Amino acid sequence: MVEFALPKNSRIGVGTTHPAPENATNIRRFLVYRWSPDGGKNPSIDTYEIDMDACGPMVLDALIKIKNEIDSTLTFRRSCREGVCGSCAMNIDGTNTLACTKFTGEVKGDVKVYPLPHVPVVKDLVPDLSQLYAQYAAIKPWMETQSSPPDRERIQSQDERKELDGLYECILCFCCSTSCPSYWWNSDRYLGPAVLLQAYRWISDSRDDATGDRLGELADPFRLYRCHTIMNCTNTCPKNLNPAKAIGEIKKRLVERQ
Ligand code: SF4
Ligand code: SF4
Ligand code: FES
Repeated sequence: MVEFALPKNSRIGVGTTHPAPENATNIRRFLVYRWSPDGGKNPSIDTYEIDMDACGPMVLDALIKIKNEIDSTLTFRRSCREGVCGSCAMNIDGTNTLACTKFTGEVKGDVKVYPLPHVPVVKDLVPDLSQLYAQYAAIKPWMETQSSPPDRERIQSQDERKELDGLYECILCFCCSTSCPSYWWNSDRYLGPAVLLQAYRWISDSRDDATGDRLGELADPFRLYRCHTIMNCTNTCPKNLNPAKAIGEIKKRLVERQ
């Protein structure tokens, strides 16, 4: 029988435990993925016991407390702290989400915190999003027009503007793309739900003149049609958007224009 084994350096070890202060009574354990490109060590899970009476309610509050008071080497991204910048996206309790809008109280038992899955790790909880950003740039996420610039803003009717609802709110956190099995297996060729939702945002914009070219670029068995409507993307989006629906709308537009 064939035996499969993970490469040696992919095995996750047991890391350091940082106990709670002696007088703490309301303790939660945070199990956090740690890996550094320096030193050649395998990844490990460090355990941090946090006194929740001295910590804010969000998972990001706990991570900031750890970094400020317990272990300054812990590395993660964050900026806005209110769910609008997308930088604190990570895998918490088995689901991709934003650490700043995830209540620790929603998690039962130990709080397991990992980087976004299926993308390379830069360090600890920081994923390497270079490929996703390159794919985003490839869909030309800006307005393409033929006409010369007007003296004032380009006007939309209220109905035209409504077409962008559910699309413009995307914060490019990539929780969806990194939860998509089709993206895991074909991320070199499939654009994935975040980038396709953004592509549809420009296809839907009445002020954009490049709709035909945009659809033409997407009409490809890999770039678009690797989506098999598994719906992980929509289920995980922390902004309650529906990338799977946006992908379906692109497919519909391609059928309509035949
Ligand atoms: S619906 Fe499409 S994009 Fe969303 S998770 Fe499934 S395969 Fe991926
Ligand atoms: S669609 Fe949702 S999950 Fe995907 S990048 Fe945008 S905000 Fe994040
Ligand atoms: S810190 Fe900006 S979305 Fe979480």
